[in-house]
Amino acid sequence: MTNSNWDALERYENQTLISLFEKDARRVEKLTIELAGIRFDLSKTHLDDTLLSGFSEMAIAAGLAAQKEALFTGAIVNPTEGRAAEHTAERGSGNAEAVAHAKKLQNRLRSLIDAIEAGAFGEIKHVLHIGIGGSALGPKLLIDALGREDARYDVKVVSNVDGAALAEATHDMDPHKTIVAVASKTFTTTETLLNATSAMEWMQRGGVADPQAQFVALTAYPEKAMAWGIDESRILPFNEAVGGRYSLWCSIGFPVALGLGWAAFEELLEGAATMDRHFRNAPTLENAPTLAAFTDLFYSQCKSSETRAVFAYDERLRLLPDYLQQLEMESNGKSVTATGAPLGRHSSPVTWGGVGTDAQHAVFQLLHQGTHLIPVEFIASKTPGHDFDPAHHEALLINCFAQGAALMSGRHSDDLARNYVGNRPSTTLLLDDVTPATVGALIAFYEHRTFANAVLLGINPFDQFGVELGKQIAKDIGENGPLGFDPSTTALIEAALGDI
Ligand code: F6P
Repeated sequence: MTNSNWDALERYENQTLISLFEKDARRVEKLTIELAGIRFDLSKTHLDDTLLSGFSEMAIAAGLAAQKEALFTGAIVNPTEGRAAEHTAERGSGNAEAVAHAKKLQNRLRSLIDAIEAGAFGEIKHVLHIGIGGSALGPKLLIDALGREDARYDVKVVSNVDGAALAEATHDMDPHKTIVAVASKTFTTTETLLNATSAMEWMQRGGVADPQAQFVALTAYPEKAMAWGIDESRILPFNEAVGGRYSLWCSIGFPVALGLGWAAFEELLEGAATMDRHFRNAPTLENAPTLAAFTDLFYSQCKSSETRAVFAYDERLRLLPDYLQQLEMESNGKSVTATGAPLGRHSSPVTWGGVGTDAQHAVFQLLHQGTHLIPVEFIASKTPGHDFDPAHHEALLINCFAQGAALMSGRHSDDLARNYVGNRPSTTLLLDDVTPATVGALIAFYEHRTFANAVLLGINPFDQFGVELGKQIAKDIGENGPLGFDPSTTALIEAALGDI
């Protein structure tokens, strides 16, 4: 993307949000998209005709249409690793060969689930899912969002190498009635393998005669799982071209498919497929992920917003900010373009957030009166996830909408301490309900938004070399002790670990 495109947008003197509404009675309608059981309201952002046409031209110049086709047809979109990114094939979208391959592997997933339900593993009550990053965040989010009432098994996800996480998860589990799913795309991640080994020991201590028989592997490298000791019949492979943070749709979704049932898993995939069709085919100005990317780019590139905040006004979606942090920051937190040149501008903003209404009483002060401009995203559901007094849900939604209104309108006071400048942008995503289908569509929306951001910035969103150095140094320290490190690191290691 040439700097002159950005320069023009950076120089553009946008109007205030209030005046945008005053000038256009149809603004809400124009900037609201209803799709897949979700209402995407982008009207409280500064997008206007000038910005929309500027970003649309930029999308054309960046080849967004061609890049989308490349994504959906299995062409190489991850040039640094020479790979396609085939997560959409997992939900039946795109390249026929990849879709057929994904289907075959899903059938294998389903067969194992059927076998577990039919008693092939004995009486099973618990599922201990061990993975980290993309091998944990999706299942964790989905079980928390959708498995509160209907989960058929007690599913726990353990990611952290801190043994306290495993201790807490296994505390109330009966090892005899537990399936351990070791989820790792590469099957080399040290935290996951250590947790898996400790889970095996926990089973042995608990008197399980053949713990291996209760272990399942979810991986793109079956041979590594076999070498680790898991029998081929209990390995659920997935396509290597599915990135870790895009992998909840394939066998990494094992605890979701098992915990919520196959029908729910299929609904999740179908919800995502609806979003795939929309992203692939809807014109730019009606395209929810693309327009959302335009807002991200406007604030991060043209208004120097370094963060964006996401607040779930629904307990069921409380883990969404965690999930989005990996999706957005691991994908687009880069300082180099896809062709290897310095990016020369900001990449992904920092994604952070929390839940409403809790966050209102903690961090919203800064959102309303701080000196940072932070675009806010509200996510809510029309339907509550509980049977308590409807007053709860009403209060929740009223608070959500009130915050968006307050950020936008502000309130003048001559006393500066009490003045709200307003004109602070927000987007609101209102789900009909939190169901497998709407959550599938929601996650796919964020995936495609991240992709559109990457294309317009010229970033490859599918690699993550930035995580390697720290892993390598940890390995070196583990193998050789604090040799050759800086004095601070050496002193810390010696103080905490002594002679390792
Ligand atoms: O270190 C980052 C990362 O590679 C993520 O991209 C990935 O989701 C996570 O680690 C876990 O990797 P794996 O699934 O291979 O264990």
